[in-house]
Amino acid sequence: MAYPQVGIFAMGAPAHSYLEFEIVPTGSGLELVKAIANIAMLQSTVSGLNLVVGVRPSIWSSIAPADSPSELFEFIEPIAGPDGFVMPATQRDLWLWISGPSVGQVFDGSSRILENLSRHAVLAEDISAWSYQNNRDLTGFIDGSANPSLLEAPDVALIPPNAPGEYGSILLFQKWRHDLKSFGELSVEEQEKVIGRTKKTSEEIPENDLPVNSHVARTTVTEGGDELPIFRRNTSYGTTSNHGTVFVGFSNDQDRLHEMLNRMTGIPDGIRDALTRYTTPLTGSYYFIPSITSLRKFSDETEFMIAKR
Ligand code: HEM
Repeated sequence: MAYPQVGIFAMGAPAHSYLEFEIVPTGSGLELVKAIANIAMLQSTVSGLNLVVGVRPSIWSSIAPADSPSELFEFIEPIAGPDGFVMPATQRDLWLWISGPSVGQVFDGSSRILENLSRHAVLAEDISAWSYQNNRDLTGFIDGSANPSLLEAPDVALIPPNAPGEYGSILLFQKWRHDLKSFGELSVEEQEKVIGRTKKTSEEIPENDLPVNSHVARTTVTEGGDELPIFRRNTSYGTTSNHGTVFVGFSNDQDRLHEMLNRMTGIPDGIRDALTRYTTPLTGSYYFIPSITSLRKFSDETEFMIAKR
C-alpha cells in the first residue's frame, strides 16, 4: 500500500513558491533525492505549509527503477510548431512546490528549504506566485473549470495501484509570460473565442460554435471518443509589468500532456492555439512526483538531525 503526496490536492492556499534546481557539479541524483526526502520529513502541521516534490524522470528511474513508470520522458527538446512558434525545453533535476496561508510563511519555508538543500543543488528557477481572484487567470478567465472533481482527481492525477510508480504522478511545469495589453485590446467576445469559454461564468461554447483554434479545442485530447482529462493547479505570478501563468498540470499519463502541447503548437494539423498569440512559454519541464511511500525510502535519521538544526 502506498500514499500519494497530499499537497497535489491541497486547496485554499493563496501563496505559492515554485523552485527548480540543478544538482551541484560534485553531487549525484541519489544524494539530492536523499536530501529532499529528509527535508520533506521535517514538514508537519507545525510548518503550516504544503510541500510537493518532483524529481527529473531520468534521476528517479535510475535510483528507484522498481518505483518508476516504464516510459517516462523529459522535456529536453523544444517543441516547435510549423509556423515557428516554440515551447522551450528547460528540464531541471528537482522541482518543489511550497504553498501556504501567507506570502511571508511561504517565503520563510522556501528559504529554509533552499538553505538545507544548498550543499546538493543550485537554484535554477524561483517563482513566487499567488491565487488570483478566486481561481481566475490574469486574463480574467476562470482557470480549472474542466478539472475533475476532487473525488475524481486522484484517478486522473495518480498512477493506479499495482502499476510501477503507483500513487505517483507526472507533472508538466511551464512558466508563461502574458501580454495582457494585446489580450485586453480584444473585445470580450473575441477573448471568449480565444479561450473557448465565456469570461464571466466559464460556460462552455457549444461545440458547433467553438473555434478550432480556441484553447479549449486545442487542449481537448480524445481516445475512442472520450476526452482525456488532466488535473491542473495553475497560479499567477509576477509584478504589474511582468506577469503570467504558472502552468502546473498533473496526470497519470504523460502522453496526453505532451499531445496537448503538440496540439497547442499546431504540430498535428497546423492549427496553433489562439491563446499562444497572447502568452509566451518561458520554461518547460517534466517531473515525476513519487508517492510519499517511495520518497520516504530515501530519508534517514542522520540527515534528518542535520537538517533540523
Ligand atoms: C498561459 C497558459 C495557460 C492558460 C492561461 C490557460 C488557461 C485556461 C483556461 C482559462 C481554460 C478554460 C477553463 C478551464 O477549463 O479551466 C483552460 C482549459 C484547459 N487548459 Fe489551459 N491554460 C494554459 C495552458 C495550458 C497548457 C500548457 C495545457 C496543457 C498542456 C492546458 C490544458 C488545458 C485543458 C486540458 C483545459 C480544459 C479543456 C476542456 O474544456 O476540455 N492549458 N485553460
